[in-house]
Amino acid sequence: MALIIDGKKIAESIRAEVRAEVEEIKKNRGRLPGLAFILVGEHPASQSYVKMKGKACKEAGFNSLTDRLPANTTEEALLARLRELNEDPAIHGILVQLPLPKHMNESRVIAAIDPRKDVDGFHPVNVGKLMIGEETFVPCTPAGIQELLMRSGNDPAGKHVVVVGRSNIVGKPIANILLQKRAGANAIVTIVHTGAADMAPYLKSADILIAAVGKPEFIHGEQLKPGVVVIDVGINRIPDPGSKTGSRIVGDVHFESAAKVAKAITPVPGGVGPMTIAMLMKNTLKARNLIEKR
Ligand SMILES: NC(=O)c1ccc[n+]([C@@H]2O[C@H](COP(=O)([O-])OP(=O)(O)OC[C@H]3O[C@@H](n4cnc5c(N)ncnc54)[C@H](OP(=O)(O)O)[C@@H]3O)[C@@H](O)[C@H]2O)c1
Repeated sequence: MALIIDGKKIAESIRAEVRAEVEEIKKNRGRLPGLAFILVGEHPASQSYVKMKGKACKEAGFNSLTDRLPANTTEEALLARLRELNEDPAIHGILVQLPLPKHMNESRVIAAIDPRKDVDGFHPVNVGKLMIGEETFVPCTPAGIQELLMRSGNDPAGKHVVVVGRSNIVGKPIANILLQKRAGANAIVTIVHTGAADMAPYLKSADILIAAVGKPEFIHGEQLKPGVVVIDVGINRIPDPGSKTGSRIVGDVHFESAAKVAKAITPVPGGVGPMTIAMLMKNTLKARNLIEKR
């Protein structure tokens, strides 16, 4: 049976490290990290994400503020608010919760965030820096995956990492992170997507599988190589008449069958999920330290 990679525990230790550094800042009467959230409209999942992130800021000892803008806010008004936050010395990180209402151009909005405050790592300058191996803000979910691998003793160096999915928020950045010639990376990376006529040979040759497909229990243990390390990014709600709520959350990998062949595996929930907020805290602290030139 596979070892379970406990994302909750690893995320908690990262959050404790962040808290300890904030305590030091407080002691030295330095400026506390400040994170601004912008939420446009009433998207229920976005509202709960922003609430969770705000709570994490409080626990970390950060200052945070949330701008809740109505769904009919114009793009110009949002850009004007971003200009203010870019100039605000108390704010070190800016997070525009996606998705934005349809009348807004997401690329234009993200590009309006000062790259030094882009703690989500979505600004094209930071995406480019990641690609060429420069120090930058790495998007939180893939940054969390790298931490999970390293802190669970599964260094990707020299390993064949197969990433299923090529989204801009998970697949592409994690592939870019792990292929860099540096500690914690240096992997041989393959990205699989719907263009593959047959995924089977790619899956079978993975030493580390990163599944970011968005399809419930899409990959099964029989498709994997014995001893593989499985990182399951998927968060999918499926009907479950036996549960109180009538549904439950599963990953992109069929856990029971994969756990039989894998050396280690992340559960869903409790694997990659908790890492995203922990890495947001870490990125914000990093932005604060760079801006305050500490
Ligand atoms: N904090 C977290 O834990 C966190 C954060 C982000 C996302 N997630 C979860 O991770 C999953 C992926 O998210 P995402 O935003 O990356 O999803 P996405 O934008 O929908 O991308 C899915 C990717 O999977 C590929 N794919 C879909 N069906 C496939 C198939 N049959 N064969 C091969 N490839 C296939 C798609 O290929 P094409 O490009 O060819 O269409 C696409 O590149 C979702 O379940 C999401 O909820 C979790």
